[in-house]
Amino acid sequence: MPIVRDKDIEILFSASAIARRNLELAKEIAAREYHDLLVISILKGSFIFAADLIRAMHDTGLSPEVEFIFISSYGSGTTSGEVRVLRDIDNEVAGRDVLLIDDILESGKTLRYTRDLMMSRGARNVSIAVLLDKRNKRQTELQADFVGFECPDYFVVGYGMDVAHAFRELPFVGIVRGDA
Ligand code: IMP
Ligand code: MG
Repeated sequence: MPIVRDKDIEILFSASAIARRNLELAKEIAAREYHDLLVISILKGSFIFAADLIRAMHDTGLSPEVEFIFISSYGSGTTSGEVRVLRDIDNEVAGRDVLLIDDILESGKTLRYTRDLMMSRGARNVSIAVLLDKRNKRQTELQADFVGFECPDYFVVGYGMDVAHAFRELPFVGIVRGDA
């Protein structure tokens, strides 16, 4: 794999635009009456968004517990996707308010599976925060409670998201040139 520099990527959402939006999202989240809030970051793609969002939430006075779940979905998008838990959370969710954080809501399979899993474990309620929403790609009725940005129908990378394991470290969300 050649070294790929930032110039090969077209910026879609800048680092400063994302930071501003995270503060707004945190305020929207804080306006909900959550009790005993458990935040669950869906790995790998959401790790940077979750890290920034929970710190913005701290500034609004929220102090959630934080967990991570490693979900893999094969054939997401057009083919029938199989969703699996590769590494589960350690915490009890029964009776708790759960906020799932993911990078992108696309077909909805990943988040529907994860939401249903937490409901089946007795969560009091499950809400969803995503950085990006690709609404046109939805294959179920699922909607996020908190959406950073509507995302055009490109494959995006950066801010935690990868293509072939590259570009997660970019501080912005971008489109790989040639892909646009
Ligand atoms: P869904 O199950 O179809 O909603 O898939 C959502 C998941 O697919 C996200 O959590 C991402 O990991 C991945 N994904 C979807 N679109 C993109 C993209 O444009 N770039 C990187 N990952 C993506
Ligand atoms: Mg993902």
